[in-house]
Amino acid sequence: MTTLLDVFATPRNAASRTQKLRQAFLKGYAERHPGFVHVSVDLGAIHAELPAFDAWDIQAKFEMAYGEGKLDEVGAKRWDALMRRTDQLHACDHLLVTAPMWNLSIPWMLKKWIDVVVQGRLTFEYTNGAFKGLLAGRGATILTTRDGAYGPGTPHAAMDFGVPYLKTILGFIGFDPVEAVIAEPMVLGGPEVGAAALEAGILKAGAMGLGAQR
Ligand SMILES: Cc1cc2nc3c(=O)[nH]c(=O)nc-3n(C[C@H](O)[C@H](O)[C@H](O)COP(=O)(O)O)c2cc1C
Repeated sequence: MTTLLDVFATPRNAASRTQKLRQAFLKGYAERHPGFVHVSVDLGAIHAELPAFDAWDIQAKFEMAYGEGKLDEVGAKRWDALMRRTDQLHACDHLLVTAPMWNLSIPWMLKKWIDVVVQGRLTFEYTNGAFKGLLAGRGATILTTRDGAYGPGTPHAAMDFGVPYLKTILGFIGFDPVEAVIAEPMVLGGPEVGAAALEAGILKAGAMGLGAQR
């Protein structure tokens, strides 16, 4: 059975524009993969459950990455909580990441999730002088909206640290292809332009869901 890991950072919930793209993708995906296993991670709701990456977590990370893997009781418990999230990645056939642009980048709760799941030996490895992602064989889709416009050739193109970062970090842990649907500008071109861009994004997201091979 096909499994979709659906990670979203849209705290505005029902008011969220980016959620509209997500709903369209899910509708298309359900049509393509009837009965798929839907694992959703609502980062706006569960971010406090993620390891905080305080001194304990960082110590556990370094011990697991560079040491002998000897953790004390607290470290072991925390590592288990972290592995629950990397296990979700290994169990998926496709990853969906939904998040608006925040301050030219991504919402902090999504970065928190990335810091949890990007782990040496769990989701990538370093051998013979090269990095290798351990989630190969899976595709990922990014859905985003933003008030301004940052497309190639526009005056603000170099300011997009969101989609390029997500493409790079997901590619780093092995996802390929990583595709994005960007709906913009939501506000800065005026209401009509915003409404048309959102509609176009919804259509594209639906088509991406329908076209997702796995
Ligand atoms: C904290 C915060 C920071 C934002 N930063 C940017 C930004 O840097 N550039 C931009 O174009 N829009 C920015 N926006 C606007 C959102 O990206 C935009 O309104 C988006 O459509 C909101 O998505 P949502 O409706 O799913 O919440 C920001 C919004 C918030 C709440």
